[in-house]
Amino acid sequence: MNLDGKIILVTGGSGLLGRAILTDIKQNNGTAINLDINADNNIDKGEINLDITSDKSIKQAITTILKKHKRIDGLVNNAYPRTSDWGKAFEDVNPDSFSKNIDMQLSRIFALSQPVLEIMKKQGYGSLVHMSSVYGIVGNDFTVYENTPLTSPAAYSAIKGGLINFSRYLASYFGKYNVRSNCVSPGGIFDHQNKIFVEQYEYRVPMKRMGTPKDIAPIVSFLLSDDSSYITGQNIAVDGGWTAI
Ligand SMILES: NC(=O)c1ccc[n+]([C@@H]2O[C@H](COP(=O)([O-])OP(=O)(O)OC[C@H]3O[C@@H](n4cnc5c(N)ncnc54)[C@H](O)[C@@H]3O)[C@@H](O)[C@H]2O)c1
Repeated sequence: MNLDGKIILVTGGSGLLGRAILTDIKQNNGTAINLDINADNNIDKGEINLDITSDKSIKQAITTILKKHKRIDGLVNNAYPRTSDWGKAFEDVNPDSFSKNIDMQLSRIFALSQPVLEIMKKQGYGSLVHMSSVYGIVGNDFTVYENTPLTSPAAYSAIKGGLINFSRYLASYFGKYNVRSNCVSPGGIFDHQNKIFVEQYEYRVPMKRMGTPKDIAPIVSFLLSDDSSYITGQNIAVDGGWTAI
């Protein structure tokens, strides 16, 4: 894969998957810029402090990037803002909290993608990659959470499922401008979770292990690169076979 000369923005680049995605883009000679609420504000070091929930912050980030790089070739929508009660059981979720998460995790992808797509449209070139999830493709197998305090929020399924079809909309709308939009849907990534959960997850998944950030990042780079120049509107599950059974 060759990302030589490409300017690529990664939201949530300070997190578990974001760090691996930034590294992989750089290893493929791309210029990767981390846009994260926990990043420094130093464009020369490829870091921009962005709060994706703020219109002002998005505007400032884009102005700073264009001033330095003049173009944007790729955007990875990977940030993962969530409310403090994220992870509560279905019965305990307040409808306001559900709405807030839809807004932070889905509507704000629209808010950032809209101005970036306008730039890509003018360039006649661009690639968007959105981080969805297996839970955006299939319903949950709640047996993996049994005897643990963990669950998967209902809003997550709504957000990730919505994101896959939002991506198809963008693929259709911007295809004629040579701007592509695809999703990557990881399965569960190992991050020292509850031991019982990990065992139950590994029993359920055909490849008998959880994913790693390194399983995911090269697929993102592939979709950003010209090696995937005729792929748009697709969703690649990187899940050890979770959605195959
Ligand atoms: N980890 C998994 O098992 C897994 C599985 C499937 C899909 N995903 C998806 O991959 C993406 C990344 O997940 P992760 O596990 O790396 O998450 P993470 O929590 O490790 O990282 C998320 C990043 O988003 C940043 N962020 C939070 N609020 C923000 C805001 N308001 N503005 C800008 N940045 C903000 C955080 O600072 C953090 O660096 C998410 O969209 C997630 O749904 C993760």
